[in-house]
Amino acid sequence: MENKTTIGTAIGKIILIGEHAVVYGHPALAIPFPETKIKTIINRKKGHVTLDCYFYKGLLSNVPERLLGLTTIIKEIVNSFSEKLEDISIKIESSIPPERGMGSSAAVAVATVRALYDFYERPLTREDLFKWSNISEKIVHGNPSGIDAAIIIGETPLYYIKGKPFIPFPFKLDAYLIVADTGELGQTQAAVASVKKLIEFNPKEGENIIKQLGILTDNAKTSIKINDIVSLGKTMSKAHTLLDKLDVSNETLNYLVSVAIDNGALGAKLTGGGRGGCMIALAETQYQANFISNKLLYSGAKNTWIYNMGVDLA
Ligand code: PMV
Repeated sequence: MENKTTIGTAIGKIILIGEHAVVYGHPALAIPFPETKIKTIINRKKGHVTLDCYFYKGLLSNVPERLLGLTTIIKEIVNSFSEKLEDISIKIESSIPPERGMGSSAAVAVATVRALYDFYERPLTREDLFKWSNISEKIVHGNPSGIDAAIIIGETPLYYIKGKPFIPFPFKLDAYLIVADTGELGQTQAAVASVKKLIEFNPKEGENIIKQLGILTDNAKTSIKINDIVSLGKTMSKAHTLLDKLDVSNETLNYLVSVAIDNGALGAKLTGGGRGGCMIALAETQYQANFISNKLLYSGAKNTWIYNMGVDLA
């Protein structure tokens, strides 16, 4: 049996604003986050298919339920090639912390689809990538807006509205974004389900919050276009207050948001599904970003990243 290895990669993503409202047809702004990556390595190896990743190491046939999205598409893709699901090993290496609102599940799907198509030497289109990652995301999240897959496949900032053609939103902003990981697993599916319940039981309040979040995304878009980082920061903080009202924040996220603000951030909010996962904060200078990042680490954040949003970039 000849040796063969293929590698597929995909980057993480950060939602700047509009999470949850995006599920209901309102806009969201999100950016690719190449600071974090997934790498799927497929090797030819005689015998049953094995999977080696953060959550599990063993036979593909015995994977835990949380990996059902990934294993479903692996099986369906190999089946669609009329190949036998055997004689390969699949290893997933990740610098995207899992279940933290950074798009790890969509990125794992995209990286794995890329590696599988390469291994079986089939041409891969963007439509294939969207199709498979959306199948996986539906199993993982229940009712995904599709924003994660759109950013991770397109690798460009987007003004995203569910079901509409993607609108690339390249920008150059004189600010830095600090991303901080609470270290707690986010609960996207539970948070999305609880927002749905709130809207069902209290449509007036629920729909009003969602609508206001949509308006804040458009305000943020305008602020970014005119490089008004002060108003962008204020908009981010307002969005966090509304997300907290929707009950998708938690104590740790609220605490880290307040630490960022108390230490000079222009604004701060949770990012992604919430109830754990990551928060983001906006800073004017690199010095301030480092300062806020250190304060967040000191206050319990498990990891931080600083993302230059366009300062001195060509
Ligand atoms: O937690 P993440 O990174 O999967 O982001 C979820 C974003 C939501 O708006 C809450 C859900 C969605 O499908 O858009």
